[in-house]
Amino acid sequence: MKKITIAIDGFSSCGKSTMAKDLAKEIGYIYIDSGAMYRAATLYCIENNLFLEDGSVNTKELEKQIDNIHISFQLNTQTNRPDTYLNGINVEDKIRTMEVSSKVSPVSAVGFVREAMVAAQQKMGEAKGIVMDGRDIGTTVFPNAELKIFVTASAQIRAQRRFDELKEKGQQADFNEILENVESRDYIDQHREVSPLKQADDAILLDNSHMSIAEQKQWLMDKFQEVIQKA
Ligand code: DC
Repeated sequence: MKKITIAIDGFSSCGKSTMAKDLAKEIGYIYIDSGAMYRAATLYCIENNLFLEDGSVNTKELEKQIDNIHISFQLNTQTNRPDTYLNGINVEDKIRTMEVSSKVSPVSAVGFVREAMVAAQQKMGEAKGIVMDGRDIGTTVFPNAELKIFVTASAQIRAQRRFDELKEKGQQADFNEILENVESRDYIDQHREVSPLKQADDAILLDNSHMSIAEQKQWLMDKFQEVIQKA
C-alpha cells in the first residue's frame, strides 16, 4: 500500500503526541516527536551554559556549537515508544522536566536552530510512512503532507493533562506554574517570527477538550482511512 506523510500540529500539551504515537504504531509508520528535538537542543544549552543571566540564549556561542548537537530516536523495548537521544545519550526523562519546558521557547525561536531541526526532520521523512507532531510540520516541514491535523484544547484542560502526566511520573508539579507555562508558550509559539504556530490552510481542525483518548484515536484513524483510500 502507498505510504503517506502525516503532520499533526497544535498547541502544547493537547495530546498530539499520544494521538500521533498510537496512530503510527497501529499503521506501522515511524513516529517523530519534533518537540522532543527542540527540548533536546534546550537541554544541550542548559548543560553547556548557553543561557544568559536574563534567560535569553547566547546565540553567538550556540551558532558555533550547532553542529555538535546530534539528536536521534531509538525504540525503547520496555515502553514500546521511541526515546530521545542527545549525542548518543538517552535524555528522554531529562527533556520532560519543568526546567526544560520553561526554557524551550527562546531556543525554538532561534532561526538557525529551526533550520537545523527542519532539515533533520525532512531527512527523517524522505521515505514517507511517517507521523510527525509539532508546531510547523504541516506549514514548514512537510507542506505537501497528505494528511494534516491541527489540534487544540482549552489552556486549563491542557495544564491539567500535563500536571497529571508529571504526577504519574513521580515528578514535582504545581498546577498554576504549569498553566502559566502553557499560556506563555502558546503566546511565544504563535508570535515568534520564524515559523509561528498556525493552522495550515489545508489542515483539519480537532478540538479535543472534551474527547477521551479512545475517541481521538478513532477520529484520527477514520481520517487516515479516508485519505489512504484516495492515495
Ligand atoms: O510539543 P512540546 O511541548 O514537547 O514542544 C516543546 C517546545 O518546542 C514548544 O514550546 C514549541 C517548540 N516546538 C516548535 O517550536 N516547533 C515544533 N515543530 C515542535 C515544538
